[in-house]
Amino acid sequence: MKTDCLTILRAATLSFTLAGAVAVFTGSAALAAGGEGPHIERQDWSYNGFFGKYNKAQLQRGFGIYKEVCSSCHGLKLLSYRNLVQKGGPEFSKEEALAIAKEATVSDGFDDSGDPKERPGKLSDRFQSPFSNDQMARSANNGALPPDLSVIAKARTYHRHVPWYTEPYYWLYDMATAYEEKGSDYLYALLTGYKDAPSDMTMGDGMHYNEVFPGHQIAMAAPLSSEMVDYEDGTKPTLEQHAKDITAFLAWASEPHLNARKDLGKRVMIYLAILALLLYLAKLSVWARVKH
Ligand code: HEC
Repeated sequence: MKTDCLTILRAATLSFTLAGAVAVFTGSAALAAGGEGPHIERQDWSYNGFFGKYNKAQLQRGFGIYKEVCSSCHGLKLLSYRNLVQKGGPEFSKEEALAIAKEATVSDGFDDSGDPKERPGKLSDRFQSPFSNDQMARSANNGALPPDLSVIAKARTYHRHVPWYTEPYYWLYDMATAYEEKGSDYLYALLTGYKDAPSDMTMGDGMHYNEVFPGHQIAMAAPLSSEMVDYEDGTKPTLEQHAKDITAFLAWASEPHLNARKDLGKRVMIYLAILALLLYLAKLSVWARVKH
């Protein structure tokens, strides 16, 4: 009975591992197969997979794009200027971050006659949003509300339009490749997904055609084009590069501690591997003199 249970358990573990391995090796072909609805391509991010980390230079370029392009409509109110200095992020120097903070105007209570006071930003201040309330934001944007981008990379995802019976296969594939970048892949596809509307589609007033936005009509005009923002580090400023860099920056904003999390994960796995080896050796020595 005991042996039966063990055999079943072993067979189950083996088939699960095999299924995972097969999923990894044949996954890309099946993912490319697509189905109904817009196809969102998986991109190669520096923070992909079990060991991926943010690239500091890319986050700095991404911040430049946020500042020069997106910040005129979108806030990042969950970030503070001091976060720009923290390890695992864009890692600007304290002086650079302070200079960025000082460009913002922050309201600072009231003076003696009851009038609102203002001062330049400090490192401890949150990022200042471009509009003081949603009504103002809507009236400047044809009635549409530009969402705050602090956690947008986590808040967005996409649905794979595949037959229901292949879903478990995709779960396995995602697990085996530690796929957590659905939000980033959607953002990249959104920013590069502006096209001319098909001739049989009637567009609403002030709306723009986008391949991947649900319903294909978005109130935001294409915010990026090639050579829009100067890169000081010599990277070629194509539309795709801009979209990748701002997406990476937004991914960091929504998960600033990813580098530390993956570092800890690596150490835990090494610790567990050594522990497993020691336990196995201990087991061998304990059972060495027992006949079985
Ligand atoms: C001129 C104003 C403006 C600028 C500049 C702008 N946006 Fe937007 N954005 C909007 C508006 C308005 C919406 C809401 C669109 C809607 O709901 O149809 C929006 C929506 C979005 C969304 C949400 C899409 C979704 O799936 O719901 C994202 C992400 C986004 N913008 C990213 C960016 C990025 C990144 C930049 C900078 C490269 C940027 N935007 C620049 C106005 C702007």
